[in-house]
Amino acid sequence: RAAQTLSGKTAIVTTGGTIERIDSVRYISNFSSGKQGNAIALSLAQSGAQVSLVSGNTKDPAPKHPNIKIVPVESAEEMKEAVEANLPADFFIGCAAVCDFRVSNKSDKKIKKEGGLDLRFEENPDIARSVGTLPSGKRPKLVVGFAAETEELIPYAKKKLKSKGCDLIVANDVSQGAVFGQDQNTVHFVTKDSVQKLETLPKPKVAKAIVDWIRERA
Ligand code: C5P
Repeated sequence: RAAQTLSGKTAIVTTGGTIERIDSVRYISNFSSGKQGNAIALSLAQSGAQVSLVSGNTKDPAPKHPNIKIVPVESAEEMKEAVEANLPADFFIGCAAVCDFRVSNKSDKKIKKEGGLDLRFEENPDIARSVGTLPSGKRPKLVVGFAAETEELIPYAKKKLKSKGCDLIVANDVSQGAVFGQDQNTVHFVTKDSVQKLETLPKPKVAKAIVDWIRERA
């Protein structure tokens, strides 16, 4: 059992993929399983923190722990609202695969194929950035984001650290096939003054490493 070193602390974790509706029966999403975010929520809860787990679409079963409150959401806009509704928090960990775009001309009825399909898109809000750039006092003490890249992993991760106002970016190289849905993860911890590569680990171990990083700075 992990030491209860985070008791009295609160955390918001986003997990899973967002679903962006096309019409009443169809949607756009991604292959996020929610495994990594769920593992982080569980590890934080086992360390004594109270966790709001804002969950998009997942294949992984939701973690069960008395310290975890699950907040199910569908779209990126709903996810942002749910995150805001659960602030203030001591820590924010953005692990969700948020769709960059939503359909701007979605239909309330099922679209018929006879008319052809002309989808238009508008950008979704960046939830991690909106949390990371909150004014001090409102901003969680520690803001953690993820970066999945197929090239230039560390430069892009450093860029995200700055643009999203994060304290830590957990960067993973997805060029060798998807991390999405897998049980292991190879990540780098990127902060403003260091880059640390971790060995390939099962996602619960990666979660523990992130929670240890948080615990040392909480
Ligand atoms: O910009 P990119 O999608 O690569 O950034 C990934 C990180 O930002 C993840 O932590 C993800 O949860 C978060 N994110 C977000 N809202 C978005 C896009 C990404 O919170 N609209």
